[in-house]
Amino acid sequence: EKGGHDYFMLKEIEEQPEALANTLRGHFVDGRIVLDEQRMSDQDLRDVDKVFVVACGTAYHSGLVAKYAIEHWTRLPVEAELASEFRYRDPVLDRDTLVVAISQSGETADTLEAVRHAREQKARVLAICNTNGAQIPRESDAVLYTHAGPEIGVAATKTFLAQVAANYLVGLALAQARGTKYPDEVAREFEALSAMPAAVEQVLSTVDQVREIGRELAESKAVLFLGRHVGYPVALEGALKLKELAYMHAEGFAAGELKHGPIALIEPGLPVVVVMPSPKGRAVLHAKLLSNISEIQARGARTIVIAEEGDETVRPIADHLIEIPSVPTLLQPLVATVPMQVLAAEIARSRGYDVDKPRNLAKSVTVE
Ligand code: M6R
Repeated sequence: EKGGHDYFMLKEIEEQPEALANTLRGHFVDGRIVLDEQRMSDQDLRDVDKVFVVACGTAYHSGLVAKYAIEHWTRLPVEAELASEFRYRDPVLDRDTLVVAISQSGETADTLEAVRHAREQKARVLAICNTNGAQIPRESDAVLYTHAGPEIGVAATKTFLAQVAANYLVGLALAQARGTKYPDEVAREFEALSAMPAAVEQVLSTVDQVREIGRELAESKAVLFLGRHVGYPVALEGALKLKELAYMHAEGFAAGELKHGPIALIEPGLPVVVVMPSPKGRAVLHAKLLSNISEIQARGARTIVIAEEGDETVRPIADHLIEIPSVPTLLQPLVATVPMQVLAAEIARSRGYDVDKPRNLAKSVTVE
């Protein structure tokens, strides 16, 4: 049942506050983060000296977000890597390496093989998975389930937000065990996370506006996505959604790379979606993005800017402005990704495609 929606994906986009709340529920008890579905002790977590996050597609993008948060909170080196690359190079792994394998289905062949490779090298593997009893959690040392509920649309939406939240829980559990954050700081971070379902609910009020923008962009040949810091994986995710659903050429770039090549792509009328950092949280990055947007607008690009509410500086250079609530910097992907999902779905629908079943794709990729 699509619940009165044109397509399942829209229903699932709207279920995101609930998916987030369900994923966080029960993980903060008596002032402590508990990863209760995991079989790793505090001592195991204390021994970790390096983290690899491995996954494919959208799940990989959640891993890229995790890198920023886990490094910041724990001071551990974190690498996010495509599962298909990880296992074919010779990653340096040992008993004190934590490999976080993220998979909605828990059956993705590349991620499963990465898990097997990591365990052969004696690394410890924690799976983040949305499917009870799937192969990846079965073969991992520990599992943290996302409770997003079944996802029917081939494009991952609510499971992405749930994966990001689960990664944050892993980061906070590591910080707590290692003592890189005091208990009251961990409590405050969890409180900020707990406020995110309401923040996502607020972004959902922009759905109609974003669908309208999507209809206007439906005839475009290509769309570029720009972001910095945690906005960079959001840009990659926006581009992936558009490729997979609307069959359009779409690229996500780190905004700092613009002058190193991609700016040559800018031509009159080209839509460019930009994720703005918070002017309060990351003022330096905000200023740099502002100048990036001015440059691309001066070259005639059509700018679609996702920015914090009340950020008036972007108004003059945004052809379309999509407002998101003000949230802590590391949590911004949870709100900034939502308009990207709606945009891709609506462009696809306007072009006459089946949003829930894009061509050539399967919900879970069980062959390499
Ligand atoms: O089931 P998994 O999370 O392991 O799947 C990984 C990717 O195949 C998946 O995220 C894919 O990129 C989505 N269709 C993107 O929307």
